[in-house]
Amino acid sequence: MSRQVVIIKGDGVGEEVVAAARRILTKAADMYRLNISYEEHLAGGAAIDRCGTPLPQATIDAAKQSAAVLLGAVGGPKWDNVPPAIRAEKAILGLRQELGLYANLRPVRITPSLIRHSPLKPEYIAGADILIMRELNGGVYYGDRQEADASTGRDTAWDREVYSKNEVARIVKMACEAARKRRGKVVSVDKANVLATSRLWRKTAEETAAAYPDVALSHMYVDNCAMQLVLGPKNFDVIVTSNLFGDILSDEAAVLAGSIGMLPSASLGSGPGLYEPIHGSAPDIAGKGVANPLGTILSAAMLLRYSLDCAPAADAVEAAVEQALADGYRTADLYQPGLTKVSTEEMANIVEARIQG
Ligand code: IPM
Ligand code: MN
Repeated sequence: MSRQVVIIKGDGVGEEVVAAARRILTKAADMYRLNISYEEHLAGGAAIDRCGTPLPQATIDAAKQSAAVLLGAVGGPKWDNVPPAIRAEKAILGLRQELGLYANLRPVRITPSLIRHSPLKPEYIAGADILIMRELNGGVYYGDRQEADASTGRDTAWDREVYSKNEVARIVKMACEAARKRRGKVVSVDKANVLATSRLWRKTAEETAAAYPDVALSHMYVDNCAMQLVLGPKNFDVIVTSNLFGDILSDEAAVLAGSIGMLPSASLGSGPGLYEPIHGSAPDIAGKGVANPLGTILSAAMLLRYSLDCAPAADAVEAAVEQALADGYRTADLYQPGLTKVSTEEMANIVEARIQG
Protein backbone atom coordinates (compact mmCIF):
# COMPACT_ATOMS: atom_id res chain seq x y z
CA MET A 1 0.00 0.00 0.00
CA SER A 2 1.37 3.39 -0.88
CA ARG A 3 1.40 6.29 1.57
CA GLN A 4 0.43 9.62 0.07
CA VAL A 5 2.64 12.59 0.89
CA VAL A 6 1.27 15.99 -0.09
CA ILE A 7 4.04 18.35 -1.19
CA ILE A 8 3.54 22.09 -0.84
CA LYS A 9 6.55 24.01 -2.11
CA GLY A 10 5.10 27.40 -1.23
CA ASP A 11 7.07 30.54 -2.00
CA GLY A 12 10.64 31.85 -2.13
CA VAL A 13 13.23 29.25 -1.20
CA GLY A 14 10.40 26.78 -0.51
CA GLU A 15 10.69 25.28 -3.97
CA GLU A 16 14.44 24.61 -3.70
CA VAL A 17 14.48 23.21 -0.18
CA VAL A 18 11.44 21.00 -0.76
CA ALA A 19 12.96 19.58 -3.95
CA ALA A 20 16.06 18.67 -1.93
CA ALA A 21 14.06 17.10 0.91
CA ARG A 22 11.84 15.16 -1.46
CA ARG A 23 14.90 13.49 -2.98
CA ILE A 24 16.14 12.49 0.45
CA LEU A 25 12.71 11.20 1.44
CA THR A 26 12.51 9.12 -1.72
CA LYS A 27 15.97 7.66 -1.19
CA ALA A 28 15.28 6.76 2.46
CA ALA A 29 11.88 5.32 1.57
CA ASP A 30 13.44 3.13 -1.12
CA MET A 31 16.11 1.88 1.26
CA TYR A 32 13.62 1.08 3.97
CA ARG A 33 10.99 -0.33 1.58
CA LEU A 34 8.37 2.30 2.24
CA ASN A 35 6.02 2.92 -0.63
CA ILE A 36 5.44 6.66 -0.91
CA SER A 37 3.56 8.54 -3.58
CA TYR A 38 3.53 12.31 -3.95
CA GLU A 39 0.89 14.83 -4.85
CA GLU A 40 1.79 18.51 -5.26
CA HIS A 41 -0.54 21.26 -4.10
CA LEU A 42 -0.53 25.04 -3.84
CA ALA A 43 -0.55 27.24 -0.78
CA GLY A 44 0.64 30.71 0.19
CA GLY A 45 1.52 33.44 -2.27
CA ALA A 46 1.66 30.99 -5.18
CA ALA A 47 -1.94 30.04 -4.41
CA ILE A 48 -3.01 33.70 -4.08
CA ASP A 49 -1.62 34.30 -7.58
CA ARG A 50 -3.19 31.23 -9.16
CA CYS A 51 -6.43 30.80 -7.17
CA GLY A 52 -7.02 34.11 -5.37
CA THR A 53 -6.80 32.44 -1.97
CA PRO A 54 -3.77 31.34 0.09
CA LEU A 55 -5.28 27.97 0.97
CA PRO A 56 -7.38 26.44 -1.82
CA GLN A 57 -9.98 23.83 -0.86
CA ALA A 58 -8.20 21.27 -3.08
CA THR A 59 -5.10 21.62 -0.92
CA ILE A 60 -7.10 21.17 2.29
CA ASP A 61 -8.88 18.10 0.91
CA ALA A 62 -5.66 16.48 -0.30
CA ALA A 63 -3.89 17.22 3.00
CA LYS A 64 -6.73 15.66 4.99
CA GLN A 65 -6.56 12.48 2.93
CA SER A 66 -2.78 12.21 3.02
CA ALA A 67 -0.43 10.43 5.40
CA ALA A 68 1.59 13.61 5.80
CA VAL A 69 2.26 17.04 4.33
CA LEU A 70 5.74 18.38 3.54
CA LEU A 71 5.79 22.16 3.25
CA GLY A 72 8.50 24.63 2.24
CA ALA A 73 7.65 28.16 3.30
CA VAL A 74 5.00 30.70 2.39
CA GLY A 75 4.80 34.45 1.95
CA GLY A 76 7.01 37.22 0.65
CA PRO A 77 7.02 40.96 -0.03
CA LYS A 78 4.97 40.50 -3.19
CA TRP A 79 1.94 39.62 -1.05
CA ASP A 80 2.60 41.90 1.93
CA ASN A 81 -0.16 44.31 0.99
CA VAL A 82 -3.00 41.87 0.34
CA PRO A 83 -6.01 42.14 2.71
CA PRO A 84 -5.42 40.47 6.14
CA ALA A 85 -7.99 37.79 5.34
CA ILE A 86 -5.95 36.38 2.46
CA ARG A 87 -2.41 36.92 3.74
CA ALA A 88 -0.03 34.10 2.80
CA GLU A 89 0.42 33.22 6.51
CA LYS A 90 -3.25 32.24 6.51
CA ALA A 91 -2.23 29.15 4.56
CA ILE A 92 -0.19 27.83 7.49
CA LEU A 93 -2.66 28.93 10.13
CA GLY A 94 -5.51 27.42 8.10
CA LEU A 95 -3.72 24.09 7.58
CA ARG A 96 -2.95 23.87 11.30
CA GLN A 97 -6.60 24.44 12.07
CA GLU A 98 -8.09 22.23 9.33
CA LEU A 99 -5.81 19.33 10.25
CA GLY A 100 -6.23 19.88 14.00
CA LEU A 101 -2.47 20.15 14.46
CA TYR A 102 -2.26 21.08 18.11
CA ALA A 103 1.33 20.11 18.86
CA ASN A 104 4.33 21.70 17.19
CA LEU A 105 7.60 19.90 17.85
CA ARG A 106 10.74 21.96 17.33
CA PRO A 107 13.86 20.02 18.29
CA VAL A 108 17.12 21.95 18.72
CA ARG A 109 20.10 19.63 18.90
CA ILE A 110 23.65 20.90 18.87
CA THR A 111 25.68 18.17 17.24
CA PRO A 112 29.49 18.41 17.46
CA SER A 113 29.78 19.94 13.96
CA LEU A 114 27.43 22.77 14.87
CA ILE A 115 29.19 23.94 18.03
CA ARG A 116 31.53 26.23 16.10
CA HIS A 117 28.53 27.96 14.46
CA SER A 118 26.69 28.84 17.63
CA PRO A 119 26.82 32.42 18.90
CA LEU A 120 27.32 30.94 22.39
CA LYS A 121 30.70 29.82 23.72
CA PRO A 122 31.32 26.08 23.17
CA GLU A 123 31.26 25.25 26.88
CA TYR A 124 27.75 26.67 27.14
CA ILE A 125 26.29 25.05 24.08
CA ALA A 126 28.06 21.70 23.53
CA GLY A 127 25.59 18.86 24.00
CA ALA A 128 22.45 21.01 24.19
CA ASP A 129 19.42 18.99 23.11
CA ILE A 130 16.05 20.67 23.56
CA LEU A 131 12.60 19.74 22.33
CA ILE A 132 10.25 22.71 22.22
CA MET A 133 6.66 21.62 22.21
CA ARG A 134 4.47 24.52 21.21
CA GLU A 135 0.67 24.48 21.46
CA LEU A 136 -0.48 25.19 17.92
CA ASN A 137 -4.23 25.34 17.73
CA GLY A 138 -5.25 27.85 20.35
CA GLY A 139 -4.30 30.92 22.31
CA VAL A 140 -4.06 34.41 20.93
CA TYR A 141 -3.44 33.13 17.40
CA TYR A 142 -7.01 31.91 17.14
CA GLY A 143 -8.90 34.12 19.62
CA ASP A 144 -11.27 36.91 18.54
CA ARG A 145 -9.58 40.08 17.46
CA GLN A 146 -10.51 43.57 16.48
CA GLU A 147 -8.46 45.57 14.01
CA ALA A 148 -8.07 49.30 14.37
CA ASP A 149 -9.76 51.04 11.46
CA ALA A 150 -8.64 54.48 10.38
CA SER A 151 -11.65 54.87 8.08
CA THR A 152 -14.10 54.75 11.00
CA GLY A 153 -11.75 56.41 13.50
CA ARG A 154 -11.46 53.25 15.60
CA ASP A 155 -8.03 53.60 17.15
CA THR A 156 -8.12 50.56 19.42
CA ALA A 157 -7.24 47.00 18.47
CA TRP A 158 -7.32 43.82 20.54
CA ASP A 159 -6.48 40.12 20.35
CA ARG A 160 -7.93 37.63 22.78
CA GLU A 161 -6.00 34.77 24.36
CA VAL A 162 -8.24 31.80 25.18
CA TYR A 163 -7.22 28.37 26.49
CA SER A 164 -9.39 25.54 27.74
CA LYS A 165 -8.24 22.94 30.20
CA ASN A 166 -8.50 20.24 27.58
CA GLU A 167 -6.30 22.17 25.14
CA VAL A 168 -3.58 22.49 27.78
CA ALA A 169 -3.89 18.92 29.04
CA ARG A 170 -3.43 17.27 25.64
CA ILE A 171 -0.22 19.14 24.82
CA VAL A 172 1.25 18.64 28.29
CA LYS A 173 0.44 14.95 27.97
CA MET A 174 2.31 14.80 24.70
CA ALA A 175 5.24 16.65 26.27
CA CYS A 176 5.37 14.13 29.14
CA GLU A 177 5.25 11.20 26.70
CA ALA A 178 8.12 12.75 24.74
CA ALA A 179 10.15 13.42 27.90
CA ARG A 180 9.83 9.76 28.86
CA LYS A 181 11.75 8.82 25.73
CA ARG A 182 14.35 11.50 26.44
CA ARG A 183 15.78 12.72 29.75
CA GLY A 184 12.51 12.82 31.68
CA LYS A 185 12.31 16.59 32.27
CA VAL A 186 9.52 18.96 31.26
CA VAL A 187 9.65 22.71 31.81
CA SER A 188 6.23 24.30 31.37
CA VAL A 189 6.59 27.94 30.36
CA ASP A 190 3.95 30.55 31.15
CA LYS A 191 3.35 34.05 32.49
CA ALA A 192 1.23 32.95 35.45
CA ASN A 193 2.21 36.02 37.48
CA VAL A 194 0.10 38.12 35.08
CA LEU A 195 -2.16 36.08 32.78
CA ALA A 196 -5.30 34.09 33.64
CA THR A 197 -4.66 31.71 30.73
CA SER A 198 -1.22 31.04 32.20
CA ARG A 199 -2.64 30.29 35.64
CA LEU A 200 -4.97 27.70 34.04
CA TRP A 201 -1.99 26.42 32.06
CA ARG A 202 0.14 25.93 35.17
CA LYS A 203 -2.58 24.22 37.20
CA THR A 204 -3.49 21.92 34.30
CA ALA A 205 0.15 21.09 33.69
CA GLU A 206 0.47 20.02 37.35
CA GLU A 207 -2.64 17.85 37.16
CA THR A 208 -1.66 16.26 33.84
CA ALA A 209 1.93 15.54 34.81
CA ALA A 210 0.77 13.85 38.01
CA ALA A 211 0.04 10.81 35.84
CA TYR A 212 3.75 10.70 34.91
CA PRO A 213 5.63 10.14 38.17
CA ASP A 214 8.76 9.34 36.15
CA VAL A 215 8.71 12.80 34.56
CA ALA A 216 9.99 15.84 36.47
CA LEU A 217 7.77 18.84 35.77
CA SER A 218 8.88 22.36 36.62
CA HIS A 219 7.56 25.80 35.71
CA MET A 220 9.27 28.89 34.37
CA TYR A 221 8.04 32.34 33.47
CA VAL A 222 8.51 33.08 29.80
CA ASP A 223 10.77 36.10 30.36
CA ASN A 224 13.06 34.04 32.56
CA CYS A 225 12.97 31.19 30.04
CA ALA A 226 14.15 33.55 27.29
CA MET A 227 17.14 34.34 29.50
CA GLN A 228 17.82 30.75 30.64
CA LEU A 229 17.88 29.55 27.02
CA VAL A 230 21.07 31.51 26.42
CA LEU A 231 22.52 31.15 29.93
CA GLY A 232 22.08 27.42 30.28
CA PRO A 233 20.60 25.71 27.21
CA LYS A 234 21.97 22.35 28.38
CA ASN A 235 19.63 22.40 31.40
CA PHE A 236 16.55 22.00 29.20
CA ASP A 237 15.04 18.76 27.96
CA VAL A 238 11.40 19.31 26.90
CA ILE A 239 9.82 22.78 26.97
CA VAL A 240 6.03 22.92 26.69
CA THR A 241 4.33 26.25 26.13
CA SER A 242 1.54 28.22 24.51
CA ASN A 243 1.25 29.15 20.86
CA LEU A 244 2.69 32.68 21.07
CA PHE A 245 5.39 31.95 23.65
CA GLY A 246 6.46 28.89 21.65
CA ASP A 247 6.66 30.92 18.46
CA ILE A 248 9.04 33.38 20.09
CA LEU A 249 11.14 30.96 22.14
CA SER A 250 11.65 28.59 19.22
CA ASP A 251 13.22 31.32 17.09
CA GLU A 252 15.51 32.16 19.98
CA ALA A 253 16.44 28.51 20.48
CA ALA A 254 16.95 28.06 16.73
CA VAL A 255 19.79 30.54 16.63
CA LEU A 256 21.66 28.47 19.23
CA ALA A 257 22.22 25.98 16.39
CA GLY A 258 24.00 28.64 14.36
CA SER A 259 21.43 29.06 11.62
CA ILE A 260 17.66 28.99 11.53
CA GLY A 261 18.16 27.07 8.27
CA MET A 262 19.05 23.95 10.26
CA LEU A 263 15.85 23.64 12.25
CA PRO A 264 13.02 21.21 11.39
CA SER A 265 9.53 21.00 12.78
CA ALA A 266 6.63 18.60 12.98
CA SER A 267 3.04 19.63 13.63
CA LEU A 268 0.94 16.79 14.96
CA GLY A 269 -2.70 16.16 15.79
CA SER A 270 -4.87 13.11 15.51
CA GLY A 271 -4.62 12.88 11.70
CA PRO A 272 -1.93 13.62 9.11
CA GLY A 273 1.15 15.54 10.31
CA LEU A 274 2.63 18.64 8.71
CA TYR A 275 6.40 18.94 8.36
CA GLU A 276 8.26 22.14 7.56
CA PRO A 277 11.53 23.91 8.29
CA ILE A 278 11.10 26.69 10.81
CA HIS A 279 12.65 29.32 8.53
CA GLY A 280 10.58 31.47 6.22
CA SER A 281 10.54 31.93 2.44
CA ALA A 282 13.76 34.07 2.45
CA PRO A 283 12.85 36.04 -0.69
CA ASP A 284 16.28 37.73 -0.72
CA ILE A 285 18.03 34.46 -1.61
CA ALA A 286 15.21 32.68 -3.45
CA GLY A 287 16.07 31.09 -6.78
CA LYS A 288 19.82 31.41 -6.22
CA GLY A 289 20.39 27.81 -5.17
CA VAL A 290 22.11 28.84 -1.94
CA ALA A 291 19.41 28.12 0.68
CA ASN A 292 20.18 25.60 3.40
CA PRO A 293 18.00 22.52 2.73
CA LEU A 294 18.92 20.76 5.99
CA GLY A 295 15.98 22.13 8.02
CA THR A 296 13.61 20.71 5.41
CA ILE A 297 15.58 17.46 5.10
CA LEU A 298 15.44 17.03 8.88
CA SER A 299 11.69 17.76 8.69
CA ALA A 300 11.41 14.90 6.20
CA ALA A 301 13.20 12.74 8.79
CA MET A 302 10.54 13.73 11.32
CA LEU A 303 7.89 12.78 8.74
CA LEU A 304 9.46 9.33 8.46
CA ARG A 305 9.48 9.03 12.24
CA TYR A 306 6.06 10.34 13.19
CA SER A 307 3.79 9.84 10.18
CA LEU A 308 5.34 6.81 8.49
CA ASP A 309 6.39 5.13 11.75
CA CYS A 310 9.82 4.32 10.38
CA ALA A 311 12.30 5.39 13.04
CA PRO A 312 15.23 3.54 11.37
CA ALA A 313 14.78 5.58 8.17
CA ALA A 314 14.52 8.79 10.21
CA ASP A 315 17.68 7.88 12.12
CA ALA A 316 19.46 7.17 8.82
CA VAL A 317 18.56 10.60 7.41
CA GLU A 318 19.62 12.38 10.61
CA ALA A 319 22.90 10.47 10.66
CA ALA A 320 23.52 11.35 6.99
CA VAL A 321 22.98 15.06 7.75
CA GLU A 322 25.41 14.88 10.67
CA GLN A 323 27.95 13.08 8.48
CA ALA A 324 27.65 15.71 5.73
CA LEU A 325 28.35 18.41 8.34
CA ALA A 326 31.17 16.40 9.90
CA ASP A 327 32.70 16.06 6.44
CA GLY A 328 32.86 19.84 6.28
CA TYR A 329 30.07 20.70 3.83
CA ARG A 330 28.11 23.89 4.46
CA THR A 331 25.64 26.06 2.61
CA ALA A 332 26.37 29.81 2.61
CA ASP A 333 24.51 30.51 5.87
CA LEU A 334 26.97 28.36 7.82
CA TYR A 335 30.08 28.72 5.70
CA GLN A 336 33.39 29.47 7.44
CA PRO A 337 36.91 29.40 6.01
CA GLY A 338 38.32 25.88 6.01
CA LEU A 339 34.93 24.33 5.24
CA THR A 340 33.50 23.47 1.82
CA LYS A 341 30.78 25.77 0.53
CA VAL A 342 28.05 23.97 -1.41
CA SER A 343 24.76 24.85 -3.10
CA THR A 344 21.33 23.66 -2.03
CA GLU A 345 21.38 20.90 -4.62
CA GLU A 346 24.94 19.83 -3.86
CA MET A 347 24.05 19.54 -0.19
CA ALA A 348 21.13 17.27 -1.12
CA ASN A 349 23.51 15.09 -3.19
CA ILE A 350 25.97 14.93 -0.32
CA VAL A 351 23.34 13.91 2.23
CA GLU A 352 21.75 11.44 -0.20
CA ALA A 353 25.09 9.68 -0.71
CA ARG A 354 25.47 9.27 3.05
CA ILE A 355 22.15 7.58 3.80
CA GLN A 356 22.81 4.05 4.89
CA GLY A 357 20.25 1.25 4.81
C1 IPM B 1 6.05 29.90 12.58
C2 IPM B 1 5.73 31.17 11.83
C3 IPM B 1 4.23 31.32 11.79
C4 IPM B 1 3.74 31.43 13.20
C5 IPM B 1 3.73 32.52 10.93
C6 IPM B 1 4.24 32.42 9.52
C7 IPM B 1 2.23 32.62 10.95
O1 IPM B 1 6.35 32.26 12.42
O2 IPM B 1 5.65 28.83 12.11
O3 IPM B 1 6.68 29.97 13.63
O4 IPM B 1 3.77 32.53 13.79
O5 IPM B 1 3.30 30.42 13.74
MN1 MN C 1 7.63 31.74 14.12
